[in-house]
Amino acid sequence: MRVLTGIQPSGTIHIGNYFGAMKPILDLSKQEESETFIFIADLHAMTTVNDPEILRQATLNIALDYLSLGLDPDRVTFYRQSDVVGHSDLAWILSNLAPMGLLERAHSYKDKVAKGIDANVGLFYYPILMAADILLYDVDLVPVGKDQKQHLEITRDLAQKFNSNFSEVFKLPDGLISETTAIIPGLDGQKMSKSYGNTIEVFADPKAMKKKIMSIQTDSAGVDEPKEHQGNVIYELSKFFMNEEELAQLRADFINGGVGYGDMKKRLLENVINYFAPHKAKRDELAKKPEQIEQILTKGAQKAQKIASHKLADVRKVVGL
Ligand code: ADP
Ligand code: TRP
Repeated sequence: MRVLTGIQPSGTIHIGNYFGAMKPILDLSKQEESETFIFIADLHAMTTVNDPEILRQATLNIALDYLSLGLDPDRVTFYRQSDVVGHSDLAWILSNLAPMGLLERAHSYKDKVAKGIDANVGLFYYPILMAADILLYDVDLVPVGKDQKQHLEITRDLAQKFNSNFSEVFKLPDGLISETTAIIPGLDGQKMSKSYGNTIEVFADPKAMKKKIMSIQTDSAGVDEPKEHQGNVIYELSKFFMNEEELAQLRADFINGGVGYGDMKKRLLENVINYFAPHKAKRDELAKKPEQIEQILTKGAQKAQKIASHKLADVRKVVGL
């Protein structure tokens, strides 16, 4: 089963990104039967970033993040979108099958326009490029967040239209929508998100991590009082970092009273630091060897290119190029 997903390089990753998006795809890539493709969507990022240094740095950072969090480049074809020739070519070909109305209804575009962001043509065209990213590789499954569901529908639409207009060239992909993935709460109890300023960064240094975790918002229950654990941010976050035994103890401390939130936060802090420590060490090591990252991405692009070139040749033939 071929699984593919693209990631936008969009700044420093937080634990919501990790448990909500990165870990599920990394777990999937470890399954025997899956052949996984993960690419860094740097062409897509150009719709919002126009500083070359920022784009280059963000691309390198997200590569470092994935590689240090467990992406195994021997199992996963890991590449930069812009290194493979054919994504933009196929997008152009598909664009001639896409009605304006289909794209005008795309949330990614509509939402930004509604917020008063001056949309460029790239942003409007974005779903077509995403369709090309997928259709070039005969993909079975595309794991994405809920916000990308409509883009997958557009992808299937375009594939169907192409197949019936020209010839059965494209496989129709299914989405694996992470609706069931728990929403990781942020420091204030809302969904953790960069846009709410309530994040805990995965690779924060211990001092910064402490500052964040100690600032988790709680009610004013005193040390001795029994406390409600369900929905409490300390408890909800601890679920991701503690083993059964530690979690049962924490629950008991909530229910019985006698332990203050400060102590509970300290325990959570220790667990979070321990959880990410080996990954952080690996990241620091890898960051010293950018040429090694470059090698991995180049090798990934070569593997991807073989498949993409075959598909593009088929496409060109059937459309008359
Ligand atoms: P942000 O909201 O911080 O801007 P993004 O929109 O860049 O994060 O999210 C990247 C990926 O991480 C998406 O697939 C999204 O579903 C996932 N994700 C982000 N925040 C959370 C969260 N709090 N809980 C679960 N998944 C999340
Ligand atoms: N649009 C996706 C996002 O913002 C990233 C992406 C680009 C992608 N091309 C893709 C995801 C192809 C899956 C498949 O998250």
